Amino acid sequence: MLLNKEQYNVAVAGATGAVGRKMLEILEERGFPVGSLKVLASARSAGKTLTFRGSPVTVEELKENSFEGVDIALFSAGSDASRHFGPLAVKSGCIVIDNSSAFRMEENIPLVVPEVNPETIGSDPGIIANPNCSTIQMVVVLKPIHDRFKIKRVVVSTYQSVSGSGQKAIDELEDQTKKLLDGKAVIPNVYPHQIAFNCVPHIDIFLDNGYTKEEMKMVNETRKILGDPSILVSPTTVRVPVFYSHSESVNVETEKPMSAREVQELLSNAVGVQVVDNPEDCEYPLAISATDRDEVFVGRIRDDISCKNAINFWVVSDNLRKGAALNAVQIAEYLVQRARG
Ligand SMILES: NC(=O)c1ccc[n+]([C@@H]2O[C@H](COP(=O)([O-])OP(=O)(O)OC[C@H]3O[C@@H](n4cnc5c(N)ncnc54)[C@H](OP(=O)(O)O)[C@@H]3O)[C@@H](O)[C@H]2O)c1
Repeated sequence: MLLNKEQYNVAVAGATGAVGRKMLEILEERGFPVGSLKVLASARSAGKTLTFRGSPVTVEELKENSFEGVDIALFSAGSDASRHFGPLAVKSGCIVIDNSSAFRMEENIPLVVPEVNPETIGSDPGIIANPNCSTIQMVVVLKPIHDRFKIKRVVVSTYQSVSGSGQKAIDELEDQTKKLLDGKAVIPNVYPHQIAFNCVPHIDIFLDNGYTKEEMKMVNETRKILGDPSILVSPTTVRVPVFYSHSESVNVETEKPMSAREVQELLSNAVGVQVVDNPEDCEYPLAISATDRDEVFVGRIRDDISCKNAINFWVVSDNLRKGAALNAVQIAEYLVQRARG
């Protein structure tokens, strides 16, 4: 349980990665009450220096005793590290907010988006899971629609940026783009195919049902976060040659009658959402405008001309911020607020 304190000892596991670096940036920018900060990564990075609040912080190797005296640990070091070190961190007395998929679907572990279901965090949570990035930005928009009109079915196609696969994928897109423009050959490394100037309908591994693991995360996590196992979700997840921010085309069918106009009004008042929907002036959400922003942007809200009680929209958000680091810090902020009454 988090105690009411003026400042908290914080650890970031995976601090040298794309999400970990963003966590440090967001903790600083939002003035999170950090007393001491430990930045942890693999042995490869031990001794390197990161910056927090203008001062250098030395990276330590993530070890079993890394969490002594730590109140809150933000994990973004991959599922294997979370599975091994997460329970040890909890044993040391700290609360773990985990970005990996290791614990998301475990029954007793809350899967939290603060705008949607913070009430699912019990009084002594141990581990709290941060959902998958493509799911977070979708459920922030689905929640008000579900509350008002009861969602029956969601059909979603994603256009996911390479930063969703971490720093090495950001480097690979940059490298491939430069080489191809220089007329040189490229050899794919992070992805099974060249990602520059391409779209790859394959994120994470394929499962027996023909869907990818990323697609099934969108199905299962959406149901868990919205607390409704009856919601049907039909996803296709695609990696595109964009550096930051995921875009999604979403079709939603509801039980109660709804119109695009009503949804537009509803979403205009939704927490964490910004409606950008002026197609006449070419204004709609874009990956380049969502990057480095906290909000989930939604636009192109229109009635589905092929189906009653259904709408289409386009939703974009920064996957490293709302899709990962910001959501985790918001969970930590919620815990602090709750501890302080
Ligand atoms: N990128 C996203 O948009 C996103 C969104 C939601 C969730 N996530 C999840 O967040 C996690 C990190 O993703 P990322 O994109 O930041 O990846 P990344 O850029 O590849 O960074 C991985 C980080 O984990 C550290 N690490 C790897 N293995 C480790 C080990 N055995 N012990 C200690 N540290 C280890 C790395 O340290 P070194 O630098 O020393 O190798 C690095 O700091 C993953 O679980 C990912 O699924 C990512």
